[in-house]
Amino acid sequence: MQLETLVAASVALVAFSAYLTHNRTGLPRVGKAGPLGFILTALRSIGSFEDLIREGLNKYGGKPFVVPTMAGSVIMVSGPENIDLIKASDDSAINQPISINESLQLDYTMNSRQLALPYHAVVIRTDTTRAINSFIPEVLDETRLSMSEAFAPKVGEKSATIPLFHTMTHLIARISNRAVLGISLCRNETFLHDIVRFAETVVLYAQVLRWLPRILRRPAYLLASSAFGGAKQPCKTLIPHLKVLIAERAQGLESSKTIGDFLINHAPPEELANPELLAMRVAIVNFGSIHTSSIFGSHAIFHLAALSEAEQDDIRDEIVEALESESGYTKTSLAKMRKLDSTLREVGRFYALLSIGLTRRLIKPVSLADGTVLPSGYNIAVPLAPIHFDASVYPEPEKFDCFRFSKLRDTEENVVKHGFTTIDKDFVPFGLGRHACPGRFLCASMELKTMLAHMLLNYDLSLPDGVKTVPKPMTLSGTVMPNLSACIVLAPRVGQVGQDL
Ligand code: HEM
Repeated sequence: MQLETLVAASVALVAFSAYLTHNRTGLPRVGKAGPLGFILTALRSIGSFEDLIREGLNKYGGKPFVVPTMAGSVIMVSGPENIDLIKASDDSAINQPISINESLQLDYTMNSRQLALPYHAVVIRTDTTRAINSFIPEVLDETRLSMSEAFAPKVGEKSATIPLFHTMTHLIARISNRAVLGISLCRNETFLHDIVRFAETVVLYAQVLRWLPRILRRPAYLLASSAFGGAKQPCKTLIPHLKVLIAERAQGLESSKTIGDFLINHAPPEELANPELLAMRVAIVNFGSIHTSSIFGSHAIFHLAALSEAEQDDIRDEIVEALESESGYTKTSLAKMRKLDSTLREVGRFYALLSIGLTRRLIKPVSLADGTVLPSGYNIAVPLAPIHFDASVYPEPEKFDCFRFSKLRDTEENVVKHGFTTIDKDFVPFGLGRHACPGRFLCASMELKTMLAHMLLNYDLSLPDGVKTVPKPMTLSGTVMPNLSACIVLAPRVGQVGQDL
């Protein structure tokens, strides 16, 4: 078959499947009218999702409205009462796992067990969060080593100019796998390459699979992932490693305490008997940490690099004070780094991961606070801009201010309220309710702060010559990514006070 025919057939299939799911909700919708208008608007949602949401918010005020997407209709709801309704939901009517399954196409990109038996979320929420203190020295050690390799200037040069997002993805994969799998795999270049590729392609492939009729999804994924990405390659390294851990456990040997060990402790017998299934658990944890933390870390570093030298020094002084008061990196010293914490919370407010949050599947009809009844079978979501850019909560909301929350913490008694990991109805990048992100303590309180603190103490950060502002983020179908090719400049601060080397 000619390539043009294949492309035309795929577009026709995509358009047909979008039409089949067109708006039958009885709610108003944005975009052009009629079935053809639905398809055209769905196509537009790929590049201009935020514009469609803005149109709906302006046109329909706080009322629910539908945005056509290539995966069908999504109902947008807003307002504090409706957010409370979603937050309080127990999955019996407003369901989160089904919508996650749908948005990551887990049945194809990982496997259907992730939805049926989500014990990996329990492991992150319980054992992993409890072990954060013991992971800190490991994460710091890996941060020092990996950054000294990644940021080394070329011979004869004083600084290194690096493509930030790509470098961050590899650093996060290595550093977080020190906690997930230990020293041997976190330094295995083949594994790192394969797991990064897997994490990077899951979102992309899931996006495209959602546009296809179900019958085509499995063959399409197998075809695409056999050429690029997919879990097969990282599993080649993961499976023998997990077999050793399982055998050691069976012999009652004392094993190192990694997140991999925690997963083995919680795994049901059929997964212990089939390490391929267990490897998928490690893969989903890796996906959760690599994809999200590299996005948040890159946004934060771009903004830190854009600060004046005096402002950067202000943050360094606070880091040094915190480390001195606690004799090094601990949970308490990291908690004292409020300016770094504030920068990360501002990343959550300003960018988040997506322009919508709290995506859920309605499995029963649901009545909203104003009496509107939403029909079952649809996905709902909450646009984040009205929450995170509400001027009555966040003065000058369009301004990215690294110190926005640390200033508030200096003046208010309730210091926890403005911390990066504190979620409430005004701050939802980690979701809300029973499914709120359990990895935020590992990623936020620990990994990202350790990495950023070490980076600031050991390197002068700046944007490349001639670049005056933080590179604009990139958006695709509602996902918000840092600019993928933009660089930053890092110059080692040799002999400077405050180095933690
Ligand atoms: C900056 C980093 C991160 C961000 C912004 C983030 C964001 C999110 C969001 C928005 C959700 C859905 C919440 C909801 O629907 O209410 C979520 C769920 C989840 N996240 Fe994260 N995440 C981050 C880091 C991590 C890390 C490092 C891990 C694992 C090590 C992780 C593991 C999970 C898991 C397992 C869930 C599903 C929880 C459940 O369904 O009960 N996340 N995350």
